[in-house]
Amino acid sequence: MHSLPPTLSPARLPALLQAMPKAELHIHIEGSLEPELIFALAQRNGVSLPYADVEALRSAYAFTNLQSFLDIYYAGASVLIQEQDFYDMAQAYFVKAAADNVVHAELFFDPQTHTARGVSMETVINGLHRACVDAEKELGVSASLIMCFLRHLSEKEAFETLEQALPYRDKIIGIGLDSGEVGNPPEKFARVFARCRELGLRLVAHAGEEGPPEYIWTALDVLKVERIDHGVQAIKDAALMQRLAKDRIALTVCPLSNLKLCVFPDLAQHNLRQLLDAGLAATVNSDDPAYFGGYMNANFTQTFAAVGMDAHHAYTLARNSFEASFIDDAGKSRYIDRLNDCFEGFRR
Ligand code: HPA
Ligand code: ZN
Repeated sequence: MHSLPPTLSPARLPALLQAMPKAELHIHIEGSLEPELIFALAQRNGVSLPYADVEALRSAYAFTNLQSFLDIYYAGASVLIQEQDFYDMAQAYFVKAAADNVVHAELFFDPQTHTARGVSMETVINGLHRACVDAEKELGVSASLIMCFLRHLSEKEAFETLEQALPYRDKIIGIGLDSGEVGNPPEKFARVFARCRELGLRLVAHAGEEGPPEYIWTALDVLKVERIDHGVQAIKDAALMQRLAKDRIALTVCPLSNLKLCVFPDLAQHNLRQLLDAGLAATVNSDDPAYFGGYMNANFTQTFAAVGMDAHHAYTLARNSFEASFIDDAGKSRYIDRLNDCFEGFRR
């Protein structure tokens, strides 16, 4: 581990968290749609919303569990119609990410939310991909796309979605699994994930957000995913904790999401520190920042304050984010060198 002066005062921790380069590996790009942009796009596209204004929409963001959020999240996405809408949404996210020193991002997107409304796969992927290309050029943020299957829908529909995406295979790095977890175990998607694996796509899945540790086991052993999104319920299963640590399976943890969806009653009770202290490759991410009240840096600073983590945890989390990313080895090394340089700066 990187050595830091024991003298780094806690007062400098927020500045370190802000300044350190980091990767974001768990961001649903539709979850970055701020109410202001939802209303602007609704007007541009002539879509009517069941909320009078931005304040009325924002005041509906009082969630009790995952499903209560998903209902509003899918309604918000209904304003996305044209390629430029997808571009504008992602571009707004990249500007916020860059301000938090996110230097690499792997974006989830939910094509079925859009194709079900008659928006083509081409429109979705081309808009998002163009934003990724421009983020690298204009903001120095490298980015790639992970296409998610909605797990409340059937495996047959996932296969159809994969088929529609194949012409754009080169614009997608991997496949994920999201939406309502409980009652929709990973093994429901065994065959389509096997096909994606044959196609050389990288694999991840949400598991152990609200669902039981068994879903993490089957995501690993049946779907053969490389990272687990959320995974915080692993703490209930000692054998699973050992497996995750031994195989260096990254967990893309989203503290403010867990707080807002009542996975933990308050941030002080979040288990991120226990996961790290048990040797798991945890990372910090924002999930759906427009809905959960914070982008990357808010997730870091609020969680560090609530659970009492220090600069060593900060280094581990940032380093884990690069190591768990789907960047090539040379790229990972370059980012880790930048991380080390940043910490060097804080030694003085
Ligand atoms: N969990 C499952 N599905 C989602 C989430 C989440 O946190 N965010 C957007 N879709
Ligand atoms: Zn998520």
